[in-house]
Amino acid sequence: MTTTLYVFTGTGNSLAAAESLAQKLGNTVIESIPIRMKKAGPVIPDNQKVGFVFPVNYSGVPLILAEFIPRISLSHVPYIFAVATAGGVGRYALIQLDTLLKENGSSLQAGWMIRMVDNYIPYGGAPDDKTQKEILADAEHQLAVIASSIQSEKKEMPKFPLMSQMLHYLLYPRFIRSLPEIDNRFHVDDTCNGCGICRKVCPVENVRILDERPVWQHHCLFCLACINLCPKEAIQLEEKHRRKRRYHNPSVPLKKLVQIQSGFDSSSDQ
Ligand SMILES: Cc1cc2nc3c(=O)[nH]c(=O)nc-3n(C[C@H](O)[C@H](O)[C@H](O)COP(=O)(O)O)c2cc1C
Ligand code: SF4
Ligand code: SF4
Repeated sequence: MTTTLYVFTGTGNSLAAAESLAQKLGNTVIESIPIRMKKAGPVIPDNQKVGFVFPVNYSGVPLILAEFIPRISLSHVPYIFAVATAGGVGRYALIQLDTLLKENGSSLQAGWMIRMVDNYIPYGGAPDDKTQKEILADAEHQLAVIASSIQSEKKEMPKFPLMSQMLHYLLYPRFIRSLPEIDNRFHVDDTCNGCGICRKVCPVENVRILDERPVWQHHCLFCLACINLCPKEAIQLEEKHRRKRRYHNPSVPLKKLVQIQSGFDSSSDQ
């Protein structure tokens, strides 16, 4: 029985989770939501099982996932599930996704949130390597349990994620309104060497390189891939975040991340 996992990631956690699930489930294809969104026409998967794997954004779903749902036809798919990756609090994102699916004629049979390393620099930056390892090892255990639940087509949705629901209503609408020009908050400092990685890891072609410097194009998702993946840490939010530790999921090589984001070859010219 084949499964398709539709994936969105910024810094690799959700891709790592999807790859781990795919390996445990077998017969599973991973599809990039950003790349699929660039192609015209409806998406009609020919599967018994379809899953979504994505990062939580302010206790909600990333904008690109919300925009993808009306494009995908799932009313014929018997088992639909989702795995949200988060720094801590975010289960309401699964309820939001279920609501979006219902508006489009299907629904989630199961949804799980797993804690992975928080990539949201304004919250404090990534923890030290030891803590990261512990968090990711724990996530791997949770993924094993989730994979066996998917295999047995378990029905399981989060119950009353009150704290997450409150955060969602307080923060998510304002976050979505602040897109797409939220990239006005980014600036690049003199340590930039013009390598173009920030362009290649952007899932929505929102970074151009002009005179060997990134220039943001104001259709940003605020996935924070560019700021976290810059090898020189040359991209800054506000000055107070300059020293905050960057993050890149260690099991996802840059080349793979670039392929899932943009389909570029990471070794190609800018
Ligand atoms: C804009 C933004 C908002 C976020 N909001 C939340 C949140 O509300 N709750 C949470 O636990 N983590 C939050 N995070 C952290 C990410 O969900 C988490 O690190 C996720 O695993 C990143 O996945 P990725 O590497 O696939 O992008 C947020 C991250 C970003 C960039
Ligand atoms: S990734 Fe960093 S160093 Fe490379 S072009 Fe972008 S800002 Fe400059
Ligand atoms: S510009 Fe940076 S934060 Fe915005 S969508 Fe692209 S990679 Fe993500």
